[in-house]
Amino acid sequence: MAITGNQVSIAKEFLLKGEVVAVPTETVYGLAGNALDEKAVLLIFEIKNRPSFDPLIVHTDSLEKVKTFVSDLPEKAQRLAEHFWPGPLTLLLQKKSIVPDLVTSGLDTVAVRIPDHPLILELLRSLEFPLAAPSANPFGYISPTTAAHVNAQLGAKIPYILDGGECEIGIESTIVGFEDEDVVIYRLGGLAIDEIERVVGKVKMMPHSSSDPKAPGMLKSHYAPRKPLFLNYKEAFGESTQAESTGYLLFENFICGVPKENQRVLSRTGDMREAAHNLFAYLRELDALPVERILAERPPMKGLGLAINDRLQRASFSEEE
Ligand code: TXA
Ligand code: MG
Repeated sequence: MAITGNQVSIAKEFLLKGEVVAVPTETVYGLAGNALDEKAVLLIFEIKNRPSFDPLIVHTDSLEKVKTFVSDLPEKAQRLAEHFWPGPLTLLLQKKSIVPDLVTSGLDTVAVRIPDHPLILELLRSLEFPLAAPSANPFGYISPTTAAHVNAQLGAKIPYILDGGECEIGIESTIVGFEDEDVVIYRLGGLAIDEIERVVGKVKMMPHSSSDPKAPGMLKSHYAPRKPLFLNYKEAFGESTQAESTGYLLFENFICGVPKENQRVLSRTGDMREAAHNLFAYLRELDALPVERILAERPPMKGLGLAINDRLQRASFSEEE
């Protein structure tokens, strides 16, 4: 198991040696290495068992530093950065050659974000290089929102987990790109679309909001628990089908006739931020129960509800899409 602690200096020491450590952010935990060191980046792909065509996000702590590795900052990108960084927003920007092709899977854009968590910000400020960091889960599984989640799955493969407590937002960053004058959403996430539109006007959605437009098929099993997850449980199974062997992920209310320990309610007050915060942790809990399947209720499509629905859809077992 990895050592878990809150010592930024220890995380830094490992990173300076070219090793990979887990770091907290406000969205989910990341698996971080020197973004400018191909060997460290390769190690990230290996530890995660991630296909090399799925590019990484590069994290840093200031717009000045961003400008050292991107060649162009469109006006709308600058506005979004000033408005929402540090925060759950990733921008796709033209890269400079200093960024290894491995990081971007050969694309000429690099995904960049300034995360909002005191520990990773302190770490980034102390480093002369940015950190490449995908979510700290094996490829295809649910993203981790606590140090314990990371330890359970990757603890044997990394030396240190920088423990920053529970991730406040709990869902990955919103990914935004720029095409001519348009702002394009590539992945729904922790920053709601209406907030982005308030700053730059109407945005375009990529079809299916795929986070990797080149390989949408690969994403079917993304963010998925091990147990099959079904949506729209009432239509699919009726009210009380096989309640004992089913875990229920509910939005606002518990349901009758089902053992309470098999139920998780995302937010008793219907608060989307609270629901997003709980989503991945509850999916993990349900996955660990002695049940055969998980049935999930879709939250309303407003605010962060869009991103929650997106993750549930990707996690779901259904063939339709
Ligand atoms: O909140 C987050 O974004 C977290 C924390 C750790 O920052 N990171 C995260 O990374 O979710 P990851 O690797 O799990 O997801 C990054 C996504 C991938 O689906 C990848 O396809 C997309 O970003 N991506 C990266 N670079 C891209 C690019 N140049 N063009 C299009 N998509 C890109
Ligand atoms: Mg991920």
